[in-house]
Amino acid sequence: MTAITPPTGSPGARILSVGSYLPERVVTNDEICEVLDSSDQWIRERSGIVTRRRAAPDESIVDLAEKAARQAIERAGLVPADIDAVLVATVTHPYQLPSAAALLVHRIGATPAAALDVAAACAGFSYGVGLASDMVRAGSAGTVLLVGVDRMTDLIDPTDRGTAFIFGDGAGAVVIGRSETPGIGPTVWGSDGAQWGAIAQSRSWLELKDGAPFPTLSMAGQAVFRWAVWSMAPEAQKALDSAGVAADDLAAFIPHQANARIIDALAKQLRLPEHVVVARDVVEHANTSAASIPIAMDRLLSTGAAPSGGLALLIGYGSGLTHAAQVVRLP
Ligand SMILES: CC(C)(COP(=O)(O)OP(=O)(O)OC[C@H]1O[C@@H](n2cnc3c(N)ncnc32)[C@H](O)[C@@H]1OP(=O)(O)O)[C@@H](O)C(=O)NCCC(=O)NCCS
Repeated sequence: MTAITPPTGSPGARILSVGSYLPERVVTNDEICEVLDSSDQWIRERSGIVTRRRAAPDESIVDLAEKAARQAIERAGLVPADIDAVLVATVTHPYQLPSAAALLVHRIGATPAAALDVAAACAGFSYGVGLASDMVRAGSAGTVLLVGVDRMTDLIDPTDRGTAFIFGDGAGAVVIGRSETPGIGPTVWGSDGAQWGAIAQSRSWLELKDGAPFPTLSMAGQAVFRWAVWSMAPEAQKALDSAGVAADDLAAFIPHQANARIIDALAKQLRLPEHVVVARDVVEHANTSAASIPIAMDRLLSTGAAPSGGLALLIGYGSGLTHAAQVVRLP
């Protein structure tokens, strides 16, 4: 019997670079409250959010993704032709098909790289890090571009008190490639479909055929808040334990940027020592869904708040419900 030649992988994978892009327009809480029955003070107290960015009407998620991707590729010292596969974590690409990733590959000049969208909502980036790391280690790709991008504005009802102030638009990207030593720990991930409706599109696209209004995002805010605060710290701890890393070894904690109170509660439960910098990007950029972790990572590195080469704990969680966490070495 002829044996099949197996793929040739790499002993490790690591994040080579990070890039990000935020749309120009800054939207304040006061502007949100022009149509929402709320106040700047309430929004700050309950979520920590002060501003968010909003994409221009003609700025698509592929436009946002392209800017973040080009920056990450350049910072890795690579050219688009070096990319073997592109993963785009998003839930706001407005075409069921083809994927945003296929168009992005063409836009940046990475053809014929493999292209795939990852639909894991706010956990999408951490899901993508796990997938890209495994692809590189197993040998199905040498260099992977992973982009987290969302234009949440399209799904938001500006009069919904439970969601209108929470979300923003943006993109973040990393290049993940081969490494002699491990730069990405085991991904601790999972889902709970019993809570499918906790953060969900209000109706199916099929209902539009019968004249229903465009869907918006609906969220059981308190239930999601409790789940995030009580169930995500143990998952983050598992990611630390399975990587053989203690909280004391970390340089940074970069959780999904959903709510400053959730971030603080997670940091407290994980008993992070003072020297661990905690990403609090949510204050200025709100919840950019799949983009929030790489945008926050880029900011921590570019401001010098976290050191290149330091260890960071990432955790994404959201609609599905889905969650994923891992320890990475910062590029
Ligand atoms: C949405 C969220 C900020 C709401 O905060 P909360 O403290 O749970 O607020 P509640 O729904 O308990 O409402 C508390 C009070 O504020 C009022 N309220 C609710 N939304 C309001 C708003 N936007 N502005 C002003 N008041 C509001 C309620 O009517 C209620 O008033 P009452 O006490 O007189 O009845 C919070 O639940 C949350 O952050 N959830 C997680 C959301 C999230 O991160 N999702 C993304 C995960 S990927």
